Amino acid sequence: MIAEPYRIKVVEPLKITNREEREEILKNAGYNVMLIKAEDVYIDLLTDSGTSAMSQNQWAGLMVGDESYAGCRNFYHLEKTVKEVLGFKYFVPTHQGRPAENILFRIKVKKGDYVPNNMHFDTTGAHVLDKGGIPVNLVIDEAYDPQALHPFKGNMDVKKLRDLIKKVGPEKIPLVMITITNNTGGGEPVSMENIKEVKKITEEYGIPLFFDAARFAENAYFIKKREKGYENKSVAEIVREMMGYADGCTMSCKKDGLVNIGGLLAMNDKELFEKVKQHLILLEGFPTYGGLAGRDLEALSVGLREVLDENYLEWRVGQVKYLGNKLKEEGVPIMEPVGGHAVYIDLKRFLPHIPQSQFPDNAFTAALYLEGGIRAAALGSTAFARKDEKTGEIIYPKLELVRLTIPRRVYTNSHMDVVANTVIKLYKNRDKIRGLKIVYEAPVLRHFTVRFEPL
Ligand code: F0G
Repeated sequence: MIAEPYRIKVVEPLKITNREEREEILKNAGYNVMLIKAEDVYIDLLTDSGTSAMSQNQWAGLMVGDESYAGCRNFYHLEKTVKEVLGFKYFVPTHQGRPAENILFRIKVKKGDYVPNNMHFDTTGAHVLDKGGIPVNLVIDEAYDPQALHPFKGNMDVKKLRDLIKKVGPEKIPLVMITITNNTGGGEPVSMENIKEVKKITEEYGIPLFFDAARFAENAYFIKKREKGYENKSVAEIVREMMGYADGCTMSCKKDGLVNIGGLLAMNDKELFEKVKQHLILLEGFPTYGGLAGRDLEALSVGLREVLDENYLEWRVGQVKYLGNKLKEEGVPIMEPVGGHAVYIDLKRFLPHIPQSQFPDNAFTAALYLEGGIRAAALGSTAFARKDEKTGEIIYPKLELVRLTIPRRVYTNSHMDVVANTVIKLYKNRDKIRGLKIVYEAPVLRHFTVRFEPL
């Protein structure tokens, strides 16, 4: 294991609150940590999205930002980077990941179409639905078992893919997507072998293959570490090979792009590119800035190269594992193997006494904040329970998880020790954690604004 391959030049002070203050803050936020001011959080593990620390070269890059409306120099720097790092012929910048999804699906998806993915992230699934399409998750079954040890638990089940194509017909499938790594299923990687198999099938039926590439470098690093034949290839080579099997990708660059804002949509098809530009102009801006400032484009073109640094990746993935191991040693039930960007706690085993109707995910995140001022992401019944249209019955998600998501280059392992100790303390006193009842909910995407009271 290596220590941080950088040293700290600028620091952002953190406020440390006491338990009494946190009790008050939590009550005012309706026991939903999404409604707490970030300033009142000590260690913020809500997301790894847009929360990275930029390097000195990225900050220096901001100074060469060219804020011209059309043809700014930073666009051409980014274009060169996208070609060299990812290898796609054409791309447009977007302000984050979801506009890239929106534009791609606006063009490709018609009412009644199916879009298979290993697992859709919330926004990709929602954008497919928004166009009248049907998002389908075809990840291997192991992904739904937090204890199943599979080195590439993000893989798509190729049999499920073939079965779907046979059932609905290839003309009903405008594209197949693979999310690398699989955020919704624990940040688990997809193997090169699986990508090749999916590619073979999509080619056979003439269906384009796109990646949701938010965490592409972490996925490539896992391939290097876990897949036979890749141990001596560089991550940069592995990324090029992976991307070589795809017809394009959407990317939220707020993760492995190491920037605080930015996204892109890349592709090899010129005809598609022409259409994409029209939608981009309508929704995001002129194709040489796509909703970003010139300086943001520059920070991104630096970040997309920095993320391939294997010392950085070893430390990054190692830090996530460090936290995971600490929890595991004390018997805390986590999703295994530990993924690339977060440790996921399995609440069905952590809080078996709280039924899903009492929101164990939020009960946990509220308790974690109260105990240590730490914020985590609730990814269970609050976000994913849904009502069956016909029977009115509530269908609860298979996985009831909390994500301890680690921002890139931001926290030290001393912070991880505090997080581990706090979670372990909660685990030892888990019987004391109580469920919640909803007192306010919005009709859509309720997890963002929902308010609770303790039971
Ligand atoms: N795809 C994946 C796999 C993601 O994890 C995200 C965002 C997106 C697409 C959408 O990108 O936010 O830039 O529009 N994930 C964040 C998270 C929000 O916390 O996991 P965006």
